[in-house]
Amino acid sequence: MKKVAIVGAGRVGETTAQFLAEQEICQEVVLIDIREDAPQGVALDILQTSPFFRFDTRVVGSNDPAAMAGAGLVVITAGVPRKPGMSRSDVLETNVAIIDGILDDVMRHAPDARILMVTNPVDVLTWRAWQRTGWPRERVFGQAGVLDASRMATFIAMATGFSTRDITTIVLGGHGDSMVPLPRFCTVNGVPVSHFLDQSQIRDIIQRTRDGGAEILALRKNSSAYDAPGASVAAMVDAIAHDRRRLLPCVAILDGEYGLTDIAMGVPCVLDHRGVSRVVELELTEEERGWFAESAAAVAADIGRLKAGSG
Ligand code: LAC
Repeated sequence: MKKVAIVGAGRVGETTAQFLAEQEICQEVVLIDIREDAPQGVALDILQTSPFFRFDTRVVGSNDPAAMAGAGLVVITAGVPRKPGMSRSDVLETNVAIIDGILDDVMRHAPDARILMVTNPVDVLTWRAWQRTGWPRERVFGQAGVLDASRMATFIAMATGFSTRDITTIVLGGHGDSMVPLPRFCTVNGVPVSHFLDQSQIRDIIQRTRDGGAEILALRKNSSAYDAPGASVAAMVDAIAHDRRRLLPCVAILDGEYGLTDIAMGVPCVLDHRGVSRVVELELTEEERGWFAESAAAVAADIGRLKAGSG
């Protein structure tokens, strides 16, 4: 992929740009932000790491949405983050207004791009992007599950002592308090985690994963997480840019899968050069289905709020 645009040069946008540049995932990264001079400053700062990481990726900043022209992928990170004590849904109204303007820019300047939504509440805003653009769902998706799964893998590593390299995890559902970590599909190099951890340890890991974003926000106090979120976005961009056909949990528009339509939430997806080329349906147990339904209800409630607000 030649060019990736990142709208929002805040912490997540900046970290994402750094990883994309450092790993030469694309040839050019454009950071776009409405704050005067800010994206230019961020871009220059990242560029000055190139002697250390030895990359040739061009990194530029701009205040002009037209700078996204020619991008194969537009990553949207702009918006207000939540403050301690707030849920991701609490920033819905503010962020939807910001996102709508950006979506119009994307339709105007990068009509063939794919959209990777990062701004919270990510499930609802991914749905909004799909609805507003009218684009096929394979080109409109969001990041959440890759981050949640990386948190779960980290907690399993901390509890078992194994390297995170050997740990695979999967987290589905909405990126909120009712997200659905699935320990049944988590392994240490193919060995189910239940071989190493008892039920109460697994329960603790599930809860800590659900609270993963809030835990960091409470500790940092003045910032949400951005290192692992940036790395998660970069992993998705890498899968698309290199047509890797990776199976990753992404926020996808559902079209009958899991018995749902007209909603976006975290499900296992195949990521290739098209974007989300396939949604994979897992056979869930009754208990897992219950968790998934609860999570879907929370996302659907937010989508309902949005529909009511704009209708
Ligand atoms: C988190 C926020 C960014 O999970 O959603 O850290």
